[in-house]
Amino acid sequence: MRVKIYYSCQECGHQSTRWFGRCPGCGAWNSLVEEISQPAGTAAPAGPGGQLPLPVTEVPALAEDRFPTELAELDRVLGGGIVPGSLTLVGGDPGIGKSTLMLQAAYQLSRRMQVLYVSGEESARQVRLRADRLGTLSPGLLLFCETDLDEVESQLRRLAPPVAIIDSIQTMYKAGIPSAPGSVGQVRECAAQLMRLAKTTGISIFLVGHVTKEGMLAGPRVLEHMVDTVLYMEGDRRQFFRVLRGMKNRFGSTHEIGVFEMSGAGLVEVANPSALFLIQRSRPDVPGSAVVAALEGSRPLLVEIQALVSPTGYGVPRRMTAGVDYNRVALIAAVLEKRMGLNLGSQDLYVNAVGGVKLDEPALDLAIACALVSSFRDVPVDPALVCAGEIGLTGELRPVTGVQKRIKEAFKMGFSRFLTASRSALPELAENPGIFTADTLAGALELALKV
Ligand code: TYD
Ligand code: MG
Repeated sequence: MRVKIYYSCQECGHQSTRWFGRCPGCGAWNSLVEEISQPAGTAAPAGPGGQLPLPVTEVPALAEDRFPTELAELDRVLGGGIVPGSLTLVGGDPGIGKSTLMLQAAYQLSRRMQVLYVSGEESARQVRLRADRLGTLSPGLLLFCETDLDEVESQLRRLAPPVAIIDSIQTMYKAGIPSAPGSVGQVRECAAQLMRLAKTTGISIFLVGHVTKEGMLAGPRVLEHMVDTVLYMEGDRRQFFRVLRGMKNRFGSTHEIGVFEMSGAGLVEVANPSALFLIQRSRPDVPGSAVVAALEGSRPLLVEIQALVSPTGYGVPRRMTAGVDYNRVALIAAVLEKRMGLNLGSQDLYVNAVGGVKLDEPALDLAIACALVSSFRDVPVDPALVCAGEIGLTGELRPVTGVQKRIKEAFKMGFSRFLTASRSALPELAENPGIFTADTLAGALELALKV
């Protein structure tokens, strides 16, 4: 067979026969790497071989036989537990806690079944020391330090454990593929082989994948569409909590989150995340702070949004955000200028979601606007108030989904007032004297800011 050379982008997986300084697919610079094409068929789509097409009515409708890991936060994100024969990618920055989470989950499972933990990054002794520290020693947990994928496959076939963990997919290599471990070619090939293995043997496999500084699952990013489930672990490494987010799930809903706290003895599940995110709210009556009731999957989450508006010293005004969408803040600032006559053009704007949590939801708009105006006017937002509302370009306030859940969470956490859009679906709760509604941003701000 003729060997063909092609170039493949390490960021997005784009392939071309020519080298480019800048990837035509994603625009990344210097990301194309030379690879050699494999004999056709090696990357065949995964699936149990030798089957014939069946009428859909004759496909056995099995009752769901997923099994829980007993880590409730992980089970929630997985959609209730592990599906036999599934392939799950667990992504996140290096050092965020992926190995810790996987080791803890492996331990919980190993009390009921055999689990194979394949480590390509740490020696067996290192993993044992960590397991010791986490209190996760169990004879049902098998360690295997290997990076050769064919070795891993033969052990998996020999032992046939119900669950296996590959830590990490970037350290695995398949002999015969000339590119280096961690390159797109290797990562894709290794994952395809593990996918076939999972589907034919029924072993549920977790792949750990590191991300690049751009925040993308580089290398593993090309796996997102191959695997069944993508979980992403995030959080500020200097802070203690970690959020496990479902990005894709063929067996359940996405957008669920699991919240953990990193402690000296590993990850501890956080059953009440609102309390965790609000714990630092020691000065609620300082201008520039507002609390939003965000909805992450099925779960409401109260988070403090802080803003600082200060005159620009010289040059172009700065806009900086952490944890909230930069473009959304720019849009809200524009609405405040145009519809409410606030002169923000000569002001620097800084907006933060406190605690390092990342939020991306239209319901945040109102809290961002309240925090900005509160800081600009130097008037605090009502400290007992929680808000949730989307802001339209004409300055109208739009309803948000799941408003009942948000209101319940706010009152449960000790807040006494809730502000949202007039047209929200608020049947019986509308009689509650603590619920305030407005049609416009201007009306909402009047209610939110104590004058
Ligand atoms: P790790 O799981 O190795 O991260 P990843 O696999 O995503 O690269 O987590 C390593 C970090 O977690 C490290 O900075 C130390 C911290 N840590 C704790 O704070 N407590 C613990 O019990 C453990 C095991 C790790
Ligand atoms: Mg690790």
